[in-house]
Amino acid sequence: MNEQAAIKKRHAAAAAVRYLQQDMILGIGTGTTVNVFIELLASGGTAALPRAVVSSSEASTARLRAAGMTVLDVNDVGRLPLYIDGADEATRRRQLTKGGGGALTGEKIIAAAAERFVCILDDSKLVSTLGRFPLPVEVIPMARSYVARRLSEFGGRPVWRRGIITDYGNHILDVHGLSIEDPVAMEQTINQITGVVTCGLFAARGADRLLVGTDEGVEEI
Ligand code: A5P
Repeated sequence: MNEQAAIKKRHAAAAAVRYLQQDMILGIGTGTTVNVFIELLASGGTAALPRAVVSSSEASTARLRAAGMTVLDVNDVGRLPLYIDGADEATRRRQLTKGGGGALTGEKIIAAAAERFVCILDDSKLVSTLGRFPLPVEVIPMARSYVARRLSEFGGRPVWRRGIITDYGNHILDVHGLSIEDPVAMEQTINQITGVVTCGLFAARGADRLLVGTDEGVEEI
């Protein structure tokens, strides 16, 4: 990561701190921007500290435990007031593409369960139309080839992310070359294909806030 990108991520992560409330249960996502946020929590320098967290991936769980946080199973948590996570692409309508780190299914579950989803990202990820970043789709391994053929019908080029097995034992197809004019419709259509676990479009349930790190500070959308 270059220094300019690192500064933007720090700006976005620092802006998320003010959404914390003392002793809340907090949902935490996955990725390098979230890792900056976890470091802030671990440093104890935030005014409020969560009582416990739920995590979207094994990678974040390991990092949170190493930081001394209590990590709960999302099944054991009733109310989840806040989820903080990054994104690979976002529009100003707060619709997202996620899953570049392969954790899209856990991320979607926690985003769905959370009352508020605050997304932290840098300004290089803001787009007018989703699709520049290849769209990740998690698939049951047996269905990989079938789903790839079906995804080709959308005009994109699905590429198997070889060597990656998700936290749930599945494969990922990255669909290149899409121009996603109607993210809600595409999310619903892809999720209906037999063998798809979920796709990386967060459109029907997008973010409630974008905290966009810039050179100067943060833009809130
Ligand atoms: C993980 O599967 C992704 O959805 C991440 O949230 C996304 O890739 C953002 O990651 P970075 O903060 O590392 O760019």
